[in-house]
Amino acid sequence: MEEGQINNLSLKDDEEDIVDPWNVASKSETGIDYEKLIKRFGSQKIDEALIERFEKVTGRKAHHLLRRGIFFSHRDLHTILNHYESGKKFYLYTGRGPSSESMHIGHIIPFMFTKWLQDVFKVPLVIQLTDDEKALWRDIKVEDARKMAFNNAKDIIAAGFDPANTFIFNDLDFIGKCPAFYQNMVRIQKCVTFNQAKGIFGFGESDVIGKISFPSIEAAPAFSTSFPFIFGDNVLPCLVPCAIDQDPYFRMTRDVAARLKLPKPALLHASFLPALQGAQHKMSSSDPNASIFLNDTPKQIKNKINKYAFSGGQPTIEEHRQKGGNTQVDISYQYLKFFLEDDERLAEVKKMYESGELLTGELKRIAIDTITPVIQQYQTRRAQVTDDVLRQFFELRKLEF
Ligand code: TRP
Repeated sequence: MEEGQINNLSLKDDEEDIVDPWNVASKSETGIDYEKLIKRFGSQKIDEALIERFEKVTGRKAHHLLRRGIFFSHRDLHTILNHYESGKKFYLYTGRGPSSESMHIGHIIPFMFTKWLQDVFKVPLVIQLTDDEKALWRDIKVEDARKMAFNNAKDIIAAGFDPANTFIFNDLDFIGKCPAFYQNMVRIQKCVTFNQAKGIFGFGESDVIGKISFPSIEAAPAFSTSFPFIFGDNVLPCLVPCAIDQDPYFRMTRDVAARLKLPKPALLHASFLPALQGAQHKMSSSDPNASIFLNDTPKQIKNKINKYAFSGGQPTIEEHRQKGGNTQVDISYQYLKFFLEDDERLAEVKKMYESGELLTGELKRIAIDTITPVIQQYQTRRAQVTDDVLRQFFELRKLEF
C-alpha cells in the first residue's frame, strides 16, 4: 500500500469506494462498504456458520477480530479447515511492504492475528518483506529499501513470533539465494500476459517494467515449492491472512495455481483500521496525527485520542444525553472493537454510549486505557529484538511443524 496517497483521493458522490494495492478511499462517514466489496471481488463473507465451524474444528473460541467481522471475507477457508481436520499440514504466508516510518497500530493487527492463527493450527509461517516493491513504486533507493525491511522486521517480530516456526525474508536479499523461488517466479510470469496484468492491476504503458513483473514475486511465496529448505518437495496448501487491498495479487495467484497444478492459496481478508480523523480514511504513516504509532508514548497516545479521534457524540451534553452517541462513526469505539477483547465489556460500552449515559470524553478515556497497555506490552517485546534475534528469523533453515 502506498501510504500517503490514500487520503488525498476525492471521490464524487456516485463513485464507488476505491480499494486496490495502492489506493484506499471512501466517501462515507462509516468508511468502506465491505459488503459491496465482497460482491465486487467475488470473495465469500465470513458468516456465523463459518465461525462456528472454525471453532468446532480447532476447539478454540474464534479470535475477536473474526467474531467482530474485522476479518470479514475469505476464499477457500473451508478447504483449509477440511485439510486440517483430516490431520494434514498447511502453512501461513503474509507480508509487508516496508516503509521508513515507524509502523502504526493498523500495521500490526494482521500480524497479531496471524500469530494467533499460527498458535491455533501449529503451522509454519513465511513473512515476505517487499523491499523491491517499495524501491520500484516509490522514490527510494534499493539500499534504503533493504534497510527499511530489516527495521520493519524487528517491529513484526515483536508481535510475538518464534524463529522455530517462522521464516522472514526480504526480496532483495532472499531471491538471489533461492533458485527454486526464482524458478517459480518465472513459471508464474509465463502464465500472465501484459493484458491480464493491465486488467488486474491497472498498469499502463509508461509504468516501469519492474512493476509489471512484481506480481509474480508476491505470488511465489503462496507455493510451498518456493521454499525447498523448509518444505523439501512437499506440496502444502497455503493460507494468506491479508488486508483486502492485497486481493488482486491473490486472484491472479489462484488463476495461475490452477494452470501450474498447484493448490490455490486460501485467503482471509481484513478490513482497515480507520484513521483517527474518521472512517473515510485508512490509517496512514505519513500523517503523524492520523495514526497511533507503535513507538508512541502513553502521553502521545492520550493526546492524539483526545484531540483527533473523531467523535460520534452530539454537539452538546444535553443533546448527547437525549439522543446518545453514534458508535458506527465514533473512532474511539471503532478502536475498542479492534483492541478490547472482552465482549461483554464492549457490549456494555456500546449500550452506554448509544443511550447517552456515556459521554465522548469518557469513551475516549476507555479507549486510551485499553490501547495504552497493549502498546506498552508490545514495546517491551520490541526492546528485546536484537540484531541477533533478527538474524535467526532470516536464516534459510527447516522450520518446526
Ligand atoms: N504488498 C504488500 C504491502 O505493500 C506486502 C505483501 C507481500 C503482503 N506479500 C504479502 C501482504 C502477503 C499480505 C500478504 O504491504
